[in-house]
Amino acid sequence: MTSSSALICDTEAWKALKGHVEDINKTHLRELMSDANRCQYMMMEFDGILLDYSRQRATVETMDKLLNLAKAAQLTEKISRMFNGEHINSTENRSVLHVALRAPKDAVIKADGKNVVPEVWNVLDKIKEFSEKIRSGSWVGATGKPLKDVVAVGIGGSFLGPLFVHTAIQTDPEALECAKGRQLRFLANIDPVDVARNSNGLNPETTLVVVVSKTFTTAETMLNARTLREWITTALGASAVAKHMVAVSTNLALVEKFGIDPNNAFAFWDWVGGRYSVCSAVGVLPLSLQYGFPVVEKFLKGASSIDQHFQSTPFEKNIPVLLGLLSVWNVSFLGYPARAILPYSQALEKFAPHIQQVSMESNGKGVSIDGLPLSYETGEIDFGEPGTNGQHSFYQLIHQGRVIPCDFIGIVKSQQPVYLKGEMVSNHDELMSNFFAQPDALAYGKTPEQLQKENVSENLIPHKTFSGNRPSLSLLLPELTAYSVGQLLAIYEHRVAVQGFVWGINSFDQWGVELGKVLATQVRKQLHSSRTQGTPLEGFNYSTTTLLKRYLE
Ligand code: F6P
Repeated sequence: MTSSSALICDTEAWKALKGHVEDINKTHLRELMSDANRCQYMMMEFDGILLDYSRQRATVETMDKLLNLAKAAQLTEKISRMFNGEHINSTENRSVLHVALRAPKDAVIKADGKNVVPEVWNVLDKIKEFSEKIRSGSWVGATGKPLKDVVAVGIGGSFLGPLFVHTAIQTDPEALECAKGRQLRFLANIDPVDVARNSNGLNPETTLVVVVSKTFTTAETMLNARTLREWITTALGASAVAKHMVAVSTNLALVEKFGIDPNNAFAFWDWVGGRYSVCSAVGVLPLSLQYGFPVVEKFLKGASSIDQHFQSTPFEKNIPVLLGLLSVWNVSFLGYPARAILPYSQALEKFAPHIQQVSMESNGKGVSIDGLPLSYETGEIDFGEPGTNGQHSFYQLIHQGRVIPCDFIGIVKSQQPVYLKGEMVSNHDELMSNFFAQPDALAYGKTPEQLQKENVSENLIPHKTFSGNRPSLSLLLPELTAYSVGQLLAIYEHRVAVQGFVWGINSFDQWGVELGKVLATQVRKQLHSSRTQGTPLEGFNYSTTTLLKRYLE
């Protein structure tokens, strides 16, 4: 076991895995895949989701050793501490309770001794009522017209999760039907081009702006909110803010100061991390405005189902735990620094960008939770694109260049199937043929001997050889609905937490984003004084001074 100040790399369990790498290096995935018992062991199902991790460079022995590592890292205790509302985000002295956001009404989840579930449901009920008013047209804008379009203004965790869920469900037949005649847009970047793109074609008279910011101080969001406030008041007068602007925040005092009626503010709590906030009003409000609360409630239920699985299932059958342990194996022992997230679903095009923040902001850390410098890397570089688009972009590197463990995510039933007469298979079957083929191409590769048998000319054989032995895992979902999108989200959230728990870091703070913000403040001040008073630039190095001068010219 690790004592509170020891690093996990000093444990016997870690050392055993280090030693085990040599055994794995002697085996090719081709051999591992020929063992049907092993493959059967590495497949499991929960609530309709099938996980197959047989194409990981791991054996049953590896899994035993990883489970020992979980024990050494006190994973069971850490998961319980999270669900029990202990202040596991120690640098901010906060609980980490995003699981409470999707808990059933009768659940009891405590933060600082108080059951938070009733407060969560108060806000959910308020969202339900408000979104019904907007959607039914009983709440109208300043000129008496119903509000059919919504712009959600927010960045980072106040943007990426809601965008992912919106993009994932917008072509689901049920959600599509519920969103008829409505638009949901997201304004995140401070770039005025993003303002133009997300207000172009909208009429302020029929638009509701939802300002989403946990702190209500984020520079980009506040400037974008002021810009849209100006857009509304110029067209409709100052009093229109009351009808056209609402907010989601933990900082209700600043919401009021901004000029938004606190009655039109939807709260959440400091025990919800920004990147884990999509199940709070951050996601639930804009999504309920677009699709109606009942659809969004299904998303919450999907996430809650995985929460219960994560909390109560033995580790050898626990999907987020297994995924987390395998990621630790790939990063810390096999030395693979990246992970590709490859959904064979256009609807999941915003999944990798969301998980990028969840994973990289959580686990990209340089010290342990006790502040000790780490002698091992944590986190991985997450990136991804939907298949088959990615195949025509970066898969070359994945097949013949660097080894990057891949997550293949497939959907059994398409949201929008197409069957063309005369085609061999449906369009979805065509997509899924690639989903099934790619993992084997990576695992098996192609040998020079196979190429010789195919009469490939000698000079091309090195170029056409695929080394194989490239790990991946597959997740197969029955269909992509609000419910399964919730499941997928929670699987990845908990996987990231498992990795952080094993690495012994704090996955719930983000001090690394602060320095850039501070430096930008200094630049902002000098841009202002230089432009307004011609004050010379000072305090920057040669490079920044030269670039700034060119910009100011
Ligand atoms: O980028 C840093 C960060 O603090 C994220 O963690 C957060 O999601 C984002 O900024 C937005 O913060 P807020 O919701 O407070 O505007």
